[in-house]
Amino acid sequence: MSATGKGSVTVTLEGSNKSTSLPLLAGSIGPDVFDIRKLYNELGVFTYDPGYGGTAACESKITYIDGDAGVLLYRGYPIEQLAEQSDFVEVCYLLLNGELPSKAELAEFERGVTLHTMLHEQIRSFFNGFRRDAHPMAILCGVVGALSAFYHDSLDINDPEQRRIAAFRLIAKVPTIAAWAYKYSIGQPFVYPRNDLKYADNFLYMLQAVPSEEYKVNPILSRAMDRILVLHADHEQNASTSTVRLAGSTGANPFACIAAGIAALWGPSHGGANEAVLKMLDEIGSKENIPAFIEKVKDKHSGVKLMGFGHRVYKNFDPRAKIMQATCHEVLGELGIKDSPLLDMAMEMERIALSDDYFVSRKLYPNVDFYSGIILKAMGIPTSMFTVLFAVARTVGWVSQWKEMIEDPGQRIGRPRQIYTGAATRDYKAVDAR
Ligand code: ACO
Repeated sequence: MSATGKGSVTVTLEGSNKSTSLPLLAGSIGPDVFDIRKLYNELGVFTYDPGYGGTAACESKITYIDGDAGVLLYRGYPIEQLAEQSDFVEVCYLLLNGELPSKAELAEFERGVTLHTMLHEQIRSFFNGFRRDAHPMAILCGVVGALSAFYHDSLDINDPEQRRIAAFRLIAKVPTIAAWAYKYSIGQPFVYPRNDLKYADNFLYMLQAVPSEEYKVNPILSRAMDRILVLHADHEQNASTSTVRLAGSTGANPFACIAAGIAALWGPSHGGANEAVLKMLDEIGSKENIPAFIEKVKDKHSGVKLMGFGHRVYKNFDPRAKIMQATCHEVLGELGIKDSPLLDMAMEMERIALSDDYFVSRKLYPNVDFYSGIILKAMGIPTSMFTVLFAVARTVGWVSQWKEMIEDPGQRIGRPRQIYTGAATRDYKAVDAR
């Protein structure tokens, strides 16, 4: 189903005789939108929306968020049901193809993913070019971009089969690159993927196994990892996904587009937030220091934010945060961590913030990153890997959104406009005359 017409609105430019009628479009759920495409041609004006908070940049059938109601749907299915009853590979199929797979379709898809988990052996040498202390996001960004130099048979974006193979390659190879980026940073040998393991198990294995010891996957930790992957798999037109779409709108190859998405995800306002939550908790040190820290956060001049709180879209609660909080308790229980100062601090922080008018009046609630950092730390994943893990999960979302865009006949190159406030036309002066 495409967006349907639902009437129109007349826009009149005050002080001129110009007016035009803009179509009002309705999606399947969510707010209606005005189609402003002819606004400039008819009235000679642009719209102004820094941060794009009120602008729909595309039509999409993949993910729906109702930020006020705390709803997140992948292809119509509530995130709570998927996190509880599905698993990451099935969610990948769903996001990419639009429907849940049959048993046979799922088996074939899973096989397609596992067949592509290895990297071209020459890619190994890329890693040696990085300093040992390189951030794994820097390595991930560089090596994913470099995939376009290796897999020439999946670069033709106009060929559906090549798009399909590129999707498999990205979903399958990004965990291997991510795990190797980590192994490289700690000086351990790279662990090659094992295709007899499920996706999350294989990722944990590549991250944590060493050749000198047998590695057993803990089912609770594997379930927690799978859940983290499911919860982060897609989130409609966020900064990194919009970056992938913008890069893809130029016709750039899928590996280059996903590398662009990884770069955008790296920032602390986006994917870097769970790493920032742990740093923040570390700096605060203990529960007694929380009230003073909260005061600092409320002081506009301090420039300090409560990391893991607030969201551009969720203004009630982040449904993923609730699932994360429950998973957090499961993982700490399994690992026998009864007294976790970090979790205690996080809970206290949540309690204070949720009763403080500064946060309540601004509708600032814990987001998914508030708890995911604590889970990952308890699982032995180092903080520098948190955003990398987010990128592993989000790759399928980026690929699905990229594929949808390429397959949309109405797709055009992304090209926002601006209000120019710089100098008006002036004449160049030679340096001696300035
Ligand atoms: N701590 C303190 N104050 C905050 C916070 C915060 N975490 N987030 C927003 N505010 C304040 C703003 O300063 C603003 O105050 P004002 O009205 O007095 O000027 C008010 O709340 C409204 O904020 P917005 O401008 O609507 O927030 P915006 O949508 O621009 O930003 C963002 C959203 C970037 C996520 C922000 O809340 C933030 O920086 N949070 C911390 C970082 C974080 O956790 N990011 C993860 C996001 S989720 C994800 O990427 C998976």
